Amino acid sequence: MQNKVTVVGAGNVGATTAQRIFDKGYADVVLVDVVEGLPQGKALDMLEAGPIVASDASVKGSNSYEDTAGSDIVIITAGIARRPGMSRDDLLTTNMNIVGSVTSEVVQHSPNAILIIVSNPLDAMVQHAFSVSNFPSQRVIGMAGVLDTARFRTFLAEETGVSVRDIQAYVLGGHGDSMVPLPKYTTIGGVPISDLLPTDVLERIIQRTRDGGAEIVGLLKTGSAYYAPSAAVVEMVESILFDQKRVLPCAAQLDGEYGITGLYLGVPTKLGRTGVEQIVELDLTATEKEGLQHSANEVEELNKVMASLRNA
Ligand code: NAI
Ligand code: 2OP
Repeated sequence: MQNKVTVVGAGNVGATTAQRIFDKGYADVVLVDVVEGLPQGKALDMLEAGPIVASDASVKGSNSYEDTAGSDIVIITAGIARRPGMSRDDLLTTNMNIVGSVTSEVVQHSPNAILIIVSNPLDAMVQHAFSVSNFPSQRVIGMAGVLDTARFRTFLAEETGVSVRDIQAYVLGGHGDSMVPLPKYTTIGGVPISDLLPTDVLERIIQRTRDGGAEIVGLLKTGSAYYAPSAAVVEMVESILFDQKRVLPCAAQLDGEYGITGLYLGVPTKLGRTGVEQIVELDLTATEKEGLQHSANEVEELNKVMASLRNA
């Protein structure tokens, strides 16, 4: 049976994600949005590319969750995106309401799906989707670490003139200013990055990685990044649908790993057909542990704001 993937939110990230999945023929895709005609128009346009990109998959746009029934994976990108001067956290209240209502609809129609949350502020939104869904935490995952790590690898490749394929790196923690790039686990062709780049250059690249989302917002002015974010989502989708068991940095709920319990945070995860199959614990330096704990504290603060909004 063909896989079925639903993408909620037919904006920049959602539509590009749907297109990538359809073009590769990985699954039949349903694209959902509240705006009438938008998902239908974009889906039809994608479908008409099928003969050119050699995809026999189907892609359907809809304003109804009935069409999403029985999805294997549901990707939630619905919400508002950042504009210049806004932080990801400024999106909290609006996106909490949107992600909450979308999650309730989605789980009614696809009770066995794996949810990949993209809407910002990411770590808070995935925590909220987990609470609303009542799904086991293995089946509710956030996308950010793959994107942040890809940005780090891109900037390192530019600096060193080496293929992006030969740069291994990890960026952990929350998807915000406190994200934690790990120089200790960053290697180029197996050589530690500290042997290849002076500290000040590495620090500059780390800061550019932290500011990676804002850099794109500053250039686009009317929205935020979507090509790299959609590619990041699809890397996660591939690992899940095809049970590849890739180890990818994703927002997953911690259960004592890294000394943290009950909180969603970006950590290396093994992704397979059942979702997060393992959280990989890296041996961190004292500074990296401190950085991760600081990031966890920031996520915790947002979760407290959400809890007060829920009780209001
Ligand atoms: P966008 O504005 O282009 O698209 C959002 C879409 O959501 C719109 O089409 C809108 O009509 C739809 N929508 C709003 N409420 C809805 C509802 N209740 N049900 C269904 N659809 C609804 O925004 P874009 O650029 O696609 O970004 C989407 C979200 O993803 C934003 O919150 C953004 O900050 C976040 N994001 C997260 C990244 C990450 O690394 N986790 C990376 C890039 C974006
Ligand atoms: C990004 O990092 C806006 O979170 C989004 O590009």
